[in-house]
Amino acid sequence: MTEAPIADTREIIGGLLRPVACIAPKYFYDARGSLLFEEITRLPEYYPTRTERAIMLEHGAEIAGKVGAGSTVIEMGAGSCEKARDLCELIRPAHFVAIDISAEFLHQAADGLRAAFPDLDIRVLAADLTADMSMPSDLSPRHRLVFYPGSSIGNFDPPQALSLLSRFRRLLGEDGTLLIGVDLLKDAAVLEAAYDDAAGVTAAFNLNVLNHVNRLIDSDFDPGQWRHRAIFNALDSRVEMHLEATLDIQVSWPGAGRRFLRGERIHTENSYKYRIEDFADTLGHAGFRHTDVWTDAARWFAVILARP
Ligand code: AVJ
Repeated sequence: MTEAPIADTREIIGGLLRPVACIAPKYFYDARGSLLFEEITRLPEYYPTRTERAIMLEHGAEIAGKVGAGSTVIEMGAGSCEKARDLCELIRPAHFVAIDISAEFLHQAADGLRAAFPDLDIRVLAADLTADMSMPSDLSPRHRLVFYPGSSIGNFDPPQALSLLSRFRRLLGEDGTLLIGVDLLKDAAVLEAAYDDAAGVTAAFNLNVLNHVNRLIDSDFDPGQWRHRAIFNALDSRVEMHLEATLDIQVSWPGAGRRFLRGERIHTENSYKYRIEDFADTLGHAGFRHTDVWTDAARWFAVILARP
């Protein structure tokens, strides 16, 4: 039996049958994938999480002053809600909505948050950010803060990123704020190490998508036959992750299948790296006008606050 909704099954099979096969990165996040990602965020090579946190801590008072207390925080892709703790300490919102694709993980995380902030109204929404997400009908439309940390925006190509930011803009009304973390362009060696760590955690994370896909579409991928690849594509300003067949492989699923030749790849993720000016332009096109930018000393990561 397959586990996936029919739309996911179609999307996954469609991707596998493309001339260059691909699997969307949202499928990384089954329960094990979400745990592996948490592990990635603590790796020495993976600088984004800790750099963003350091920026938020250093400029916390200023950020809090600009946002004001009593807001309604909507965190997109909340995951472990670990960043939410810091943010809630800082800005003292009245309501908190955690949205993530991995529902199971999210409920656990929200319980942890409830224990830490007993007075905060906390809601959980399992949703795909690329599909239409509707907010709970009793949620105030005023004084909203969309929080999109971790450079998750990097998974989207520029047109998709623009449409996602435009959607956030609509969710915010005229008095809302967007607080977003964006990974910046830097030396290729630093980027590639961040996506191909010495301990092999990122490799395990990438390969695990095959186990998840097996459960979703009832396919018979053997992760042991594939190897992890991470490359910086300077032309498109993105780190790409691929899975490469280490031998000729026949993969089957109900009703069809595909042959992969040795060396052939499945494209599993893009992680776009921005120049601050380019990202600010995109924000402008999405309907944001006033932006504040904070970065670390090395300019590896940016935390950006944007207003309609
Ligand atoms: C969660 C999309 C921000 O692109 O850095 C980490 C995912 N992939 N290591 C990123 C990821 C491999 C991560 N984002």
